[in-house]
Amino acid sequence: MIKISPSILACDFADIGGEVSRVYDAGAQYLHLDVMDGAFVPNISFGPAVIAAARRHSKAVFDVHLMINEPIRYISEFVRAGADIITVHYESCADIVGTLKAVRAAGVKAGVTIKPKTDPAVLEPLIPYVDMILIMTVEPGFGGQSFMPETMASVRAARGYVTASGRDIDIEVDGGITPENVGIVTQAGANVIVAGSAIFKAADAAQAIKAFFSNSAI
Ligand code: DX5
Ligand code: ZN
Repeated sequence: MIKISPSILACDFADIGGEVSRVYDAGAQYLHLDVMDGAFVPNISFGPAVIAAARRHSKAVFDVHLMINEPIRYISEFVRAGADIITVHYESCADIVGTLKAVRAAGVKAGVTIKPKTDPAVLEPLIPYVDMILIMTVEPGFGGQSFMPETMASVRAARGYVTASGRDIDIEVDGGITPENVGIVTQAGANVIVAGSAIFKAADAAQAIKAFFSNSAI
């Protein structure tokens, strides 16, 4: 069974409370919070204060995706804001193992993510330090981009490392995911689905979330 993690980057920021309640009530167990610094990625989104505000309106698992340089500097702020999982980019950390250890030491789950062009082989030595692996299916920085099918090779590689480890590690995909391609990504090995536009821009978010579940291969 998949887990759905709507990305609030696509929501109506004038009504964050209403938006996060709407998707939780529609069956989304996770909420995906995209933090961008305008340096690691060419866009700026929001910081811990917005996450803390959303936290007051949702009991969902807060799945925080840090697209910022050297995230180790901000882990405690995001934990205080209400993060349950903190996912950091392999490409943004001078010491990726140290950063993942610091996330876990702060009492939350640790995730690592790679950009579409990063070799998934970098993930294998990180398996002992993570609870989730996020494979970006678009270049990070913006919502509403088109799904990159070539990233399925990385999903398959990641699923292979997880299966070989015997550990229960989630594989998440993020970027351009819709009910039309959720079968492809779940077939490749993903079990946590991030969707921004496909849910928040849908006429009926509950309908869209239902379609993700019915079209999933698992
Ligand atoms: C992109 C973000 C994604 C994005 C997903 O850098 O990490 O989470 O918001 O939005 P959609 O589903 O619209 O591609
Ligand atoms: Zn994201």
